[in-house]
Amino acid sequence: MRQPVLLLAMQAAWSCFCRATQHYPAAWGHYDVCKSQVYTDEGLTWDYMACQPEAGDMTKYLRVTLDPPNITCGDPPETYCALENPYMCNNECDANTVELAHPPELMFDFEGRNPTTFWQSTSWRKYPKPLLVNITMSWNKTIELTDDIVITFESGRPEQMVLEKSLDYGRTWQPYQFYATDCLDAFTMEPKTVQDLTQHTLLDIICTEDYSRGYVWKYDKTVRFEIKDRFALFAGPQLHNMASLYGQLDTTKNLRDFFTITDLRIKLLRPATGATMVDESNLSRYFYAISDIKVHGR
Ligand SMILES: *[C@@H]1O[C@H](CO)[C@@H](O)[C@H](O)[C@H]1NC(C)=O
Ligand SMILES: *[C@@H]1O[C@H](CO)[C@@H](O)[C@H](O)[C@H]1NC(C)=O
Ligand SMILES: *[C@@H]1O[C@H](CO)[C@@H](O)[C@H](O)[C@H]1NC(C)=O
Ligand SMILES: *[C@@H]1O[C@H](CO)[C@@H](O)[C@H](O)[C@H]1NC(C)=O
Repeated sequence: MRQPVLLLAMQAAWSCFCRATQHYPAAWGHYDVCKSQVYTDEGLTWDYMACQPEAGDMTKYLRVTLDPPNITCGDPPETYCALENPYMCNNECDANTVELAHPPELMFDFEGRNPTTFWQSTSWRKYPKPLLVNITMSWNKTIELTDDIVITFESGRPEQMVLEKSLDYGRTWQPYQFYATDCLDAFTMEPKTVQDLTQHTLLDIICTEDYSRGYVWKYDKTVRFEIKDRFALFAGPQLHNMASLYGQLDTTKNLRDFFTITDLRIKLLRPATGATMVDESNLSRYFYAISDIKVHGR
């Protein structure tokens, strides 16, 4: 289904573009042109804009796979303790009891329920062997991302993780962003933030400490891949100039590819441990739990 993009800012930008050139192409680069009748000071006129499927929630269409496959908690049943209080152990996981199971689907179900539903891993029983989990999301189609990827943790946010993408249905993978409490230590990368990027360095892959640091995790549960901040480098801070962004996306294949995926992979490399050393006497405090993953695109 193809329909006009509903972004008003973009519509305005496109009508400007068209009036200035007085020339209405049937296609603009790889976007078709849609027109709709609008009333202006000059009366009824046609308004032209890029014609694309409407952006939406892409998690409805994905297939999720976990590696290792048996990394989900509850088989055998386990009791978990709070990271900040090893005596608070009321988080029970049992794969054979619906109310106590935490299967991967719960990362993509409707949020806003109370209590929240979430996927949970086994605990770090085999410490110091790393607790590694790959969460792979596959769409079997090409998706243009239109908004930030947002991962909401129910546990503490991981101390090390990598977000990767594939553009060829999972045959090859590229990192999208590295996340760590200490980027130098974890990945020998200088810590950066999306604010350090410019139009010229937009395609750089950075390591950020913005979403891992601190022990305030109870209130700060999300890890982001910032699409909108990257768009803003071309479209301006309020994304007013979407025509400029689409112009760039259209003429620069690397840039368009950067925002396009067929698969995403979250590589969880080290769970939250708090500010202190790992408490080997109670490894039930260390695990991953994710309540929600947002992926918007078209
Ligand atoms: C998962 O399965 C592998 C291979 O069967 C086994 O070695 C490993 O201990 C299992 N892990 C858990 C957490 O049960
Ligand atoms: C996760 O993916 C990486 C490739 O990025 C692979 O080397 C690794 O074996 C996978 N599985 C686990 C459990 O890390
Ligand atoms: C992926 O899509 C193709 C073409 O639409 C289809 O033939 C194939 O069966 C799909 N594969 C999976 C794993 O869904
Ligand atoms: C450690 O973990 C167990 C559950 O595995 C729990 O019963 C116990 O209270 C925890 N805390 C301490 C300080 O041992």
